[in-house]
Amino acid sequence: MRVLITGAAGFLGSHLCDRFIKDGHAVIGMDNFITGRPENLAHLAGNPNFSFIRHDVSDFIFVPEEVDGVLHFASPASPNEKSPYGYMNLPIQTMKAGALGTHNTLGVARANNARFLLASTSEIYGDPEVHRQNEAYWGHVNPIGKRSVYDEAKRLLRGALRLSQRQREYRAFSMISTPSFTSISLSIRNQARSFILSGFPGSSESARR
Ligand SMILES: NC(=O)c1ccc[n+]([C@@H]2O[C@H](COP(=O)([O-])OP(=O)(O)OC[C@H]3O[C@@H](n4cnc5c(N)ncnc54)[C@H](O)[C@@H]3O)[C@@H](O)[C@H]2O)c1
Repeated sequence: MRVLITGAAGFLGSHLCDRFIKDGHAVIGMDNFITGRPENLAHLAGNPNFSFIRHDVSDFIFVPEEVDGVLHFASPASPNEKSPYGYMNLPIQTMKAGALGTHNTLGVARANNARFLLASTSEIYGDPEVHRQNEAYWGHVNPIGKRSVYDEAKRLLRGALRLSQRQREYRAFSMISTPSFTSISLSIRNQARSFILSGFPGSSESARR
């Protein structure tokens, strides 16, 4: 199986690359290094199962090979207002990675009839009055607040994903992080892997559509 992972040079993306490669799959990593680091992928250089495309997901995405899964993780993600890498200091880039990046990566999934997974966030619920939040809760959001560049982009992408699910165009899934930061990497790696792998030969789920 071959997967496209956007945000591959970031914290979660680089661990996902490792996990898929460790399981014997081929990975195409994509990143523009706006917040990620090439060092996170340096150990994969020369690995025949890994290739890398330096690209901004806000622009049309061309992938030279067929892919079976698309994992869209590219987005500035740090809420640290003081950091130059925090999304509040990268507002336009953050909105574009969420909105246009999702549109473009969904396009890759559609063209390949691939499974699609995106990283959402509990921030889509804003300042929630309900804990833990589930799909029945609509949130308590401030669409013009400081964090809105991130929250609203993620809300838009979840809406786009739900639309594509309704239209049955893709077998798609969004994932919200676990509350425990220490468990997030392991949890996401496992969830992402099992979602993308399920529905493929030898797995417990049925066909992709
Ligand atoms: N880490 C968390 O606790 C957490 C929680 C909730 C959601 N998420 C989501 O998970 C994803 C990854 O988060 P992370 O913590 O690994 O962040 P990160 O900053 O370490 O990684 C994000 C990667 O995306 C890349 N990127 C950003 N914009 C891009 C663009 N336009 N084109 C190509 N690459 C681009 C960055 O260079 C970086 O390598 C994000 O979508 C984030 O919103 C993370």
